[in-house]
Amino acid sequence: METIHTIDWMKQAARQARDAGEVLGFVPTMGALHEGHLSLVRAARERCSRVVVSLFVNPKQFGPKEDFARYPRDFDGDRAKLEPEGVAYLFAPRAEEMYPAGFRTYVTVEGLSERLCGKSRPGHFRGVTTVVLKLLEIVRPHFAFFGRKDAQQARIIRQMAGDLNLDTEMVVCPIVREADGLALSSRNAYLHADERRAATVLYRSLSRARKLIEQGERSVSLLAGEIRKWIEAERRAMVDYVEIVDADTFEPKLDLRGRCLVALAVLFGNTRLIDNMIIEIGEGQPFFEL
Ligand code: PAJ
Repeated sequence: METIHTIDWMKQAARQARDAGEVLGFVPTMGALHEGHLSLVRAARERCSRVVVSLFVNPKQFGPKEDFARYPRDFDGDRAKLEPEGVAYLFAPRAEEMYPAGFRTYVTVEGLSERLCGKSRPGHFRGVTTVVLKLLEIVRPHFAFFGRKDAQQARIIRQMAGDLNLDTEMVVCPIVREADGLALSSRNAYLHADERRAATVLYRSLSRARKLIEQGERSVSLLAGEIRKWIEAERRAMVDYVEIVDADTFEPKLDLRGRCLVALAVLFGNTRLIDNMIIEIGEGQPFFEL
């Protein structure tokens, strides 16, 4: 694995691989890597002959009161985790090169970016789409891999790729969870032991909702209300939002029909965690991605 720190060098290495007929896969990350990230790397390895992983804690996607300064950073640990995974290039640009003085161009996916997490994190998705477009322009991969853990982010990036006619095919991979159901996240490292225990309420609530749906419940307000109640019963949990929306448009739904996204954001102390479940309701049994 070659570590690359400059944009020019990364562009050149990626161009050479592409010109040699390699299929380029790209996995953007902010580091503090865990099995969720590694599942994307493995999916990329399966489909692509050369995999590029980027590691960049993107200042533009953090609000002024958010955790940019204390976001976990472990470059050597991350490199050691990637080494056995068959990654060709680790791209770790410096913030001053990604955003030199005078930088003033942003990409926004309107309509989708203001909903769900966009309400409590204004500007967040603008920062995400801006950095992802920059990274895609630098690497120009055939495929890029994202986790459904960040379902809104994946949907927004897919929209950007379509709207801007990007040549990269976006692949969305399943959520990787701990044995007790908690979705892996770099931010789980912030949780105190009691908060960590409490955080299992997210997966437990989504699973209980799934049972109700399997038993025939279709009312969105009832299901969202129940999920909120179950989470609020955990005294360390503070709900930011519980929403059940159209998985494609994020428009509110009255009853479950078609493809729906159940999305949660909940605070445990200062740590904000997200989780979600996709439900597809057609003719037969409902289909779940959890
Ligand atoms: P980061 O939070 O590091 O996540 C990088 C990728 O890993 C994202 O696509 C995310 O959805 C995926 N991921 C995280 N936890 C996962 C889990 N438990 N299971 C499956 N996939 C998981 O998301 C970002 O970074 C940034 O916004 C980024 C896209 C890199 C732009 O800065």
